[in-house]
Amino acid sequence: MNTTSLIALCCIAALLVTGCSSPESGDIQIVFAAGNDPSGATEALVDEYNAAHPGVRVKFQAMPANTDTQHDAYVTYLSARESTIDLYSLDVIWTAEFARAGWIVPLPEGHIRADEFLGGPLESVTYEGTFYAVPWFTDAGVLYYRKDLLEEAGVPVPETWTDFRRACREVAEPRGMDGFVWQGARYEGLVCDFLEFLWSVGGTLDETTVVERPKEAERGVIEALGLMISFTESGISPNGVLTYKEEDSRRLFTEGQSLFLRNWPYVWSITEGEGSKINGLAGIAPLPHVEGQTSYSTIGGWNVALSTYSKHPDEALDFLRFITGERSMKKRAIEGGYLPTLASTYEDADVLAANPHFASFSEVFQNTRNRPRSPHYPRMSDIIQENVHRALTHEIEPGVAAADMVRELAEIMAE
Ligand code: GLC
Repeated sequence: MNTTSLIALCCIAALLVTGCSSPESGDIQIVFAAGNDPSGATEALVDEYNAAHPGVRVKFQAMPANTDTQHDAYVTYLSARESTIDLYSLDVIWTAEFARAGWIVPLPEGHIRADEFLGGPLESVTYEGTFYAVPWFTDAGVLYYRKDLLEEAGVPVPETWTDFRRACREVAEPRGMDGFVWQGARYEGLVCDFLEFLWSVGGTLDETTVVERPKEAERGVIEALGLMISFTESGISPNGVLTYKEEDSRRLFTEGQSLFLRNWPYVWSITEGEGSKINGLAGIAPLPHVEGQTSYSTIGGWNVALSTYSKHPDEALDFLRFITGERSMKKRAIEGGYLPTLASTYEDADVLAANPHFASFSEVFQNTRNRPRSPHYPRMSDIIQENVHRALTHEIEPGVAAADMVRELAEIMAE
């Protein structure tokens, strides 16, 4: 287990020690574990719920935002059938794994009103035809760019990688800035970025191609790796990108040190926030692609599920309904920039007034794709992470990485 997973486990361990005593004796305590929300909206919602529900006390257990850290901590925790955490916020890629392991329970009939949710997020909470969680917020990879600098140089927002490189050369290089920062560390975020690069060159790792036409799948992987390597080799991306996660890359962008950034929608409210050096200067666009191809964004996002081991499932479900309800989604969208999963929220005047950029996101959301949805996803992710990262750090040739990746994925897919 790595250091960050250890920190996450420590969060849980601390909870086990302190979390059992509630301030009012006799109160039922519900623990909700989710990634830290820097906007404070989630905590405020929890306080609001507690004030309106005497006898119940919900505790928000903020976890380190990194998805792998949370995953490893939860897996260790749930394998031991620990019951202190009642509700988990789960990455969209974990539903199948957690449902199959029996760690989360199917939601009661009628808990989810399917027609109210966006289709992609709803699919992500479904395993073998049953709903196991409620979609909470959705994500898709976005290209952030410095509107001011492109405009000043008379350079249009690039749609192809060729134009993108030119923009980096003409606008970033003379200013001594980085051209492009993204998530290149060996973790789940790299899988998201890699798939976007892969799709943008016309490649795919879908099951039919991997199993039936492995050579074709390999060709796409080699081209995508070539594209990624070209960024670091040409200096468009700093070498440090190979250790960056979301926040490392985000910081460089909001500090004004990079022309382009690939990241998730949450970055927008930070870009426009008080600590940002580029307030009012950024724009959002779909990611570029190779001439003749289309770009796709990886779908991300988080859901909320009820633990099989919860000792208070009824109270936990009531809070689950609140935290994934319209009021909560609106507040988190307005204050934290989180993209709601309830369709109606996108027509809400307050949400749109606070997030005029949601209109630009709708262009990005037109072309999105999922990572593989499988109970074996963690192994698949690991294979992709390892081979991509080793190729980027020149430990192995892209051809070798591609062949190994496709062969190992095919083995899992054939199981
Ligand atoms: C974001 C996405 C999540 C993805 C993760 C990768 O949190 O919502 O789906 O797995 O980033 O770092």
